[in-house]
Amino acid sequence: MAGGSGTRLWPLSRALYPKQFLAFGSDRTLFQQAVLRLEALGASGVALRPPCIIGNEEHRFMVLDQLREIGVEPGGVLLEPVGRNTAPALTLAALFAGEEDPILVVAAADHAVGDLAAFDAALQRAVAAASDGSIVVLGIRPTRPEIGYGYIRTQPGGAIARDGSLDVAGFVEKPDLATAKRYVAEGDYFWNSGMFVLRASTWLAALAEFRPDIEQATRAAWAARKSDHPFCRPDRAMFEAIPSESIDYAVMEPAAAPASHRTLKMVELDAAWSDLGSWDAVWALAPRDADGNALHGDALIEDSRNVYVHASSRLVSAVGLENLVIVETPDAVLVTDLARSQQVKKIVATLGQRE
Ligand code: GDD
Ligand code: MG
Repeated sequence: MAGGSGTRLWPLSRALYPKQFLAFGSDRTLFQQAVLRLEALGASGVALRPPCIIGNEEHRFMVLDQLREIGVEPGGVLLEPVGRNTAPALTLAALFAGEEDPILVVAAADHAVGDLAAFDAALQRAVAAASDGSIVVLGIRPTRPEIGYGYIRTQPGGAIARDGSLDVAGFVEKPDLATAKRYVAEGDYFWNSGMFVLRASTWLAALAEFRPDIEQATRAAWAARKSDHPFCRPDRAMFEAIPSESIDYAVMEPAAAPASHRTLKMVELDAAWSDLGSWDAVWALAPRDADGNALHGDALIEDSRNVYVHASSRLVSAVGLENLVIVETPDAVLVTDLARSQQVKKIVATLGQRE
């Protein structure tokens, strides 16, 4: 899934150039890293198909160029005329997968993973656990009360099954800070990595149960698609009519509710994972000096601590600052408290209204 807008990483991440197509301190973009990370699964005996990319129409050439750079031929590139969030996106992939009903490894394009061997081992476990029709989520042991993530509650005292999975007893998407603090203190809770492993038919059936409106509207847009390999385009007007919703709200929350008869399992992912969702995450992952400062580009700072500076086109200098993010681009400059960098999306929303 590569169709997000990455608004919290504004002003570097833009509508025409969102964060997944940028490289953060690596020679590969986040999207390229996401594709390459999955390749190892093929070497482990799983019959791995070429990747299916689901993204926005406007980014189609960027997707192809970046795939070509890493020598990957896509199985398909499904193009959305507008973003309707991840539930319709995954539905397109499930319909594209067709009658063979493969297990889908649903991956986000905006993650950083440090330990690729551990990542691959967790994926292999998840693929095995999904073969019986279960919905498998990859969970991360939380280290802080992050409000930008979903939380998976595992069965208290639940035993780890032979396939390495745990039973899921609840799912809460993006809780408020007080709730997130409680979850982290209580234990039994994991972050949702945003990676899911499940059969195409499992997804379609679960969506039809919990959000038949999205399922039917996406099927209709898919049925009226135009194909021009590797591109596949659902009907524009029909796609625009699909309600916008994420996988997490549309299916994971209701499927994990006590009354649900769906089987949800979690496989723990312990692989130095991070969602590069906001500037504080970029700072946390960047190489930092002894005072906790991370500088990118032409930057000079004095007597400062825990400051992230990204200078794109000019010298940026700062004196006596703490816990701040400064991002300079030719046409916009952002200054924000490190702890509040999630709120950058509010600026982007206001800018959108101004246009
Ligand atoms: N094709 C397509 N279309 N992709 C999309 C769309 C869309 O409309 N919207 C988002 N994506 C892609 C993004 O590019 C990203 O790779 C992935 O789907 C997840 O979307 P985000 O917008 O980044 O979601 P999030 O980070 O707020 O939350 C999700 O991920 C968290 C972990 O990173 C949720 O699954 C949370 O529960 C989870 O904790
Ligand atoms: Mg994300």
